[in-house]
Amino acid sequence: MASMESLGKKDNGPAIVAKGVSKTYDQRIKVDKKGYKHPTGQCYSCGEKIGNVTKCPKCSARQDRVRALRSVSMQMSKGEVFTLLGPNGAGKTTFLRILCTQLMPSAGDAHILGDSVVNDPKAVRENIAMVPQDAMAYSNYTPWDYAYYLSLLRGMDKETAKAKAEESLKAMLMWDLKDRPSQTLSGGEKRRGLIAAAIASDAPVLMLDEPTSGLDAIGRRNVWSTLRDRAATGKTIILTTHMMDEAEMVSDRLAIIDKGNLITVGTPEEIKKSIPYRYRVIAPENAIDRTRYPEVTKIGDRAVVYLESDEEAIEMVRDMLKKDVHAEASPVTLEDAFVYLVGEAIE
Ligand SMILES: Nc1ncnc2c1ncn2[C@@H]1O[C@H](COP(=O)(O)OP(=O)(O)OP(=O)(O)O)[C@@H](O)[C@H]1O
Ligand SMILES: [Mg+2]
Repeated sequence: MASMESLGKKDNGPAIVAKGVSKTYDQRIKVDKKGYKHPTGQCYSCGEKIGNVTKCPKCSARQDRVRALRSVSMQMSKGEVFTLLGPNGAGKTTFLRILCTQLMPSAGDAHILGDSVVNDPKAVRENIAMVPQDAMAYSNYTPWDYAYYLSLLRGMDKETAKAKAEESLKAMLMWDLKDRPSQTLSGGEKRRGLIAAAIASDAPVLMLDEPTSGLDAIGRRNVWSTLRDRAATGKTIILTTHMMDEAEMVSDRLAIIDKGNLITVGTPEEIKKSIPYRYRVIAPENAIDRTRYPEVTKIGDRAVVYLESDEEAIEMVRDMLKKDVHAEASPVTLEDAFVYLVGEAIE
């Protein structure tokens, strides 16, 4: 078996290898006059210096920690669009911040194109571009400034930086807005400008935390198609989203994380097939015979019934129509699989 060090070094090796990545946030922080945060390492209750334990040995007070990631391991191939899905607080942003060397993992390591985020963060940074979840553009800078000057800062010559900036701003439909200061742009336009800057960098690994949040339907599709085009040229793209249609449309593979645990990894099709139901029927809740159909998700006065076969789904719709009740059958969606799998993890 290949060692962690050798993984990803070869041209045909994986782009990203995460092994046992864990992160525990210590909430005991002190903010200094300049606004910098420092871990205190002191007990909340009695102030005793206790370091990294969850219970104070002196007064037994429980120490508030968040285990944001629990030994997460996964791999991404070159040229792949890989999506992280998970409920709020699942650990997606934490995982991306570790991969982009903004955060040190509490345990484990990840290699980006063979370089360790723990031991060689500088080398990692040369190969990545990141759009953080809460990225803000400086108000006086224009989309052109971001796309062009950041590419220069990465070491591109002027001609290449100009060409890359133009290409990516056009791809993000930002060409006409390229000279407007950020403060005069709408929220979605600012976001598209930042995505354009990340794409212009030409980094082999692109990380985007909820890139399409706040974008309209056309903007979203535009991002999807640009990301797919980049992946086709061999770039590796890892993103997060809460939108299941987006995850299904854009990803080659996806991972579901919940409460810091990796629940599953696979293609959208594989993940849909991993649950025991193939079909869903939506009908008014009060028209459903609960003794016959126990697997029901209630959504207000409507309900989704999960069924194993198309015969069952057709039979149910036929029964409903006989009672003059409108019901709709369709194959299960990624959202159904997500709710099923995350629900299982909660139980
Ligand atoms: N800087 C921090 N200090 C302490 N706890 C944190 C910090 N950042 C995140 N957390 C906690 O770690 C957990 C994982 O947070 P994270 O931001 O990774 O979630 P997420 O999956 O990106 O969620 P969302 O979908 O809401 O963006 C949460 O419980 C969160 O409260
Ligand atoms: Mg997040």
